[in-house]
Amino acid sequence: MIEIIGVSKSYNSGTVKAVDNVNLTIRNGEIFGFLGPNGAGKTTLIKMITGILNADEGTIKINGKDIRKNPIEAKMQFGFVPDDPNIFARLTGLEYLNFMADVYMVPPETRLDLMQTLLKRFEMAAAAGDLIQSYSHGMKQKIVVIGALLHNPPVWILDEPMTGLDPRSSFDLKEMMREHADTGKTVFFSTHVLDVAEKVCDRVAIINKGKVILGGSMQEIHEHLRENQSLENLFLELTENE
Ligand SMILES: Nc1ncnc2c1ncn2[C@@H]1O[C@H](COP(=O)(O)OP(=O)(O)OP(=O)(O)O)[C@@H](O)[C@H]1O
Ligand SMILES: [Mg+2]
Repeated sequence: MIEIIGVSKSYNSGTVKAVDNVNLTIRNGEIFGFLGPNGAGKTTLIKMITGILNADEGTIKINGKDIRKNPIEAKMQFGFVPDDPNIFARLTGLEYLNFMADVYMVPPETRLDLMQTLLKRFEMAAAAGDLIQSYSHGMKQKIVVIGALLHNPPVWILDEPMTGLDPRSSFDLKEMMREHADTGKTVFFSTHVLDVAEKVCDRVAIINKGKVILGGSMQEIHEHLRENQSLENLFLELTENE
């Protein structure tokens, strides 16, 4: 579960309000999609949830652990896939995964099995011994996803995770999200791709200019649609620039 209570964040000493009093609860057992146009504040909020940025105001708890007050405990609760997979280019895939497993204190006895399973699932086993700098964008994305899941975190937080993934890998990731949520755990991800959100999310929130402007279950969102209106039309209407 992720609790976001009254969270705001400004950049450039207050001139840009990137996140404006956001309140959201992402429950156990659900896939929650965070939608919004470019510059809406999605990455800024995700950086605050994951402790990369501090909120100006408000509280964020992950499975009850406050990211400001108990950062290490809170960070053990989640696996994070950032929007930019440019990581340790001079490590091999395997070195990177072992590094991640060390950071998250995954016992040597259990990490190998999990690594092999995930590498296979994402068709990365053959490339695991190569340097990350030789990887394509999608391969980097996949090794980051694998690294984020090695400590079997109850909460997954992913910023635009499908970007750069081929249809098979994107399908696999969506399937894994579903499996994860179905065991009572939590998945929170941002996307621009409304089709993906419609297909995989239990609940969504639409954010524009830092504010959540619509939130609810996929069914509630559909009830919000006028006759013959698509989610895309509604999204465009809600996020239109005055
Ligand atoms: N480091 C920064 N310094 C100043 N302003 C920033 C910084 N990072 C983001 N912003 C501004 O904050 C706002 C929200 O940006 P953010 O990256 O959170 O949006 P986003 O919803 O993730 O967009 P995208 O869909 O393009 O990834 C934008 O107006 C952006 O220009
Ligand atoms: Mg972003």
